[in-house]
Amino acid sequence: MKIILLGAPGAGKGTVAKLLSEFDGSVQISTGDILRAAVREGTDLGKEAKEYMDRGDLVPDFLIMKIMEARLQGNDCEKGFILDGFPRTIPQAEELKILLEKLNINLDLAVNLNVPKDVILDRLTTRRTCSNPDCQAIYNIKSDPPAPGGKCKICGSPVTQRDDETEDAITNRLETYNEKTAPLIGFYQTEGLLKDFLSLSSKETVEEIKKSLKSKA
Ligand code: AP5
Repeated sequence: MKIILLGAPGAGKGTVAKLLSEFDGSVQISTGDILRAAVREGTDLGKEAKEYMDRGDLVPDFLIMKIMEARLQGNDCEKGFILDGFPRTIPQAEELKILLEKLNINLDLAVNLNVPKDVILDRLTTRRTCSNPDCQAIYNIKSDPPAPGGKCKICGSPVTQRDDETEDAITNRLETYNEKTAPLIGFYQTEGLLKDFLSLSSKETVEEIKKSLKSKA
């Protein structure tokens, strides 16, 4: 599959992307994960991105496009990809369209995960992420708790909250989403690629996405 996952911070893009990649081996490409890895490794990109991320602002489009132009040409993308958190602005979506045409790649769907605001706020404050960079499993202290002692069920590392999970950063991320990312719903509707799902259960959403892909095949 070659799909884009749209949705507000905390809508469950990462959770749904992981389930979809387990299903058919399509690779999950999360710009958030790529940027957090760069911050951890202290690369030039990481140093530049950290300030924006900690505030809950978007990282400049030119930096993101540089990353994605290279990433989408990776051999592992041939099987398929799930774009999680990219594109995030109209200029990114326009540049992605040109890039995919150049690479001769057709998108199957752009899926919008629609989740009520109160549910999103609750999910963001209760999320925990495995601190092992090679694992990064996502948990939720209410809906999907880690092992006792706050340990990852997969690798046993401690689970932590992300640096952008402060109240101020969460508020800013949601405002930035409304202003810069929500317009992508209209963009992909015009492109004839949009599927909009009320996404309260990630498993049900995954089944809906599979059905939509089948009906397109
Ligand atoms: P990024 O990492 O993409 O963060 P985000 O979009 O804010 O999304 P999240 O990762 O917070 O949420 P999610 O939708 O993946 O939800 P999750 O599955 O974890 O980006 C971080 C930052 O990087 C940005 O702020 C920006 O600075 C920068 N950046 C990244 N991409 C960029 C780009 N393209 N351009 C510019 N800047 C960029 O789920 C959330 C919680 O809910 C978890 O605890 C989970 O267990 C729980 N949960 C999920 N689904 C369910 C469910 N169905 N029922 C109950 N609980 C659920």
